[in-house]
Amino acid sequence: MSKQRVLTGITTTGTPHLGNYVGAIRPAIEASRDTNNESFYFLADYHALIKCQDPGAVHQSTKEIAATWLALGLDTDNAVFYRQSDIREIPELTWMLNCICAKGLMNRAHAYKGAVDVNIAEGEDADKAITMGLFSYPVLMAADILMFGAHKVPVGKDQIQHVEMARDMAQRFNHIYCKKEPLLTLPNFQVDDNVAVLQGLDGRKMSKSYGNTIPLFLGEKQLKKHINKIKTNLLEPGEAKDPDTSTVFQIWQAFATPEQTAEMRQAFADGIGWGDAKAQLFALVNAEVAEARERYEDLMARPADIEAELQKGAIKARAVAAPLLEKIRASVGIFGLA
Ligand code: TRP
Repeated sequence: MSKQRVLTGITTTGTPHLGNYVGAIRPAIEASRDTNNESFYFLADYHALIKCQDPGAVHQSTKEIAATWLALGLDTDNAVFYRQSDIREIPELTWMLNCICAKGLMNRAHAYKGAVDVNIAEGEDADKAITMGLFSYPVLMAADILMFGAHKVPVGKDQIQHVEMARDMAQRFNHIYCKKEPLLTLPNFQVDDNVAVLQGLDGRKMSKSYGNTIPLFLGEKQLKKHINKIKTNLLEPGEAKDPDTSTVFQIWQAFATPEQTAEMRQAFADGIGWGDAKAQLFALVNAEVAEARERYEDLMARPADIEAELQKGAIKARAVAAPLLEKIRASVGIFGLA
């Protein structure tokens, strides 16, 4: 069987946290070691502009996310690791797709629809503060995917719709322009139900938008402090506790071996104190991230090395994108006159 091309993007807003690590980064790095896969992972900095108009924040987040993936051991000889904005072919394909994508399809995109619903509920104009970037964001995402002929796109559930829209656009493009042989590969989303969706400090899903995250590469003291802030109930040491409603236990499970998880479940039944459970959680998480944290700090101090990795990735990515874009241009009637 020929290799499966696996592609996913990470929007460059915010600092990577434990939820990102467990839910996306750790499984992606693992998947990139599978020799049946060809992994394309990229920093979606054009996507960041949709949500964030603070240039310093976008730039800093790009650096932090790149350093995080490298520090965690992404092998860039194996995986193609690049920055979206280095691939000039992507915005060009975005325009071609804009010209075949029905506006009605975008009307149904949930990021846009959600924003409209909020405006209406608040008695505002339906399109208040909605940019064309937000409206047509699934087209940019389709270009990200189709530019590289991706077969599989690992995403969170909230992104399934966008991968399906990319598939629709590919089909439509092929139908209009590729009578002989289809140029665009139809992608499939991949949602892994086994990876944990981590809870944050307040028990809701760990998310930057809730302000309840535990950043991945905090110093030890800060990591301990954050873990101590995880919300618990008022049960005393010696009183049995329910692991299945506990954020402390849930995070434990995401880092522990099955044996360690069974032991902690027993410890909850036996009434382990919250302070004790949190101290153990700190030790477990810290042990998993300590080495990578050193590499991260080292990389953050040497941005030229991070940049060199991204440039290496851009060359590999453009070697795929440029020839396909040439064919796409020709298929729509854009090519030299002689
Ligand atoms: N929109 C995705 C998110 O917010 C990030 C992303 C951008 C992406 N382009 C992509 C994911 C292409 C998969 C494929 O999570």
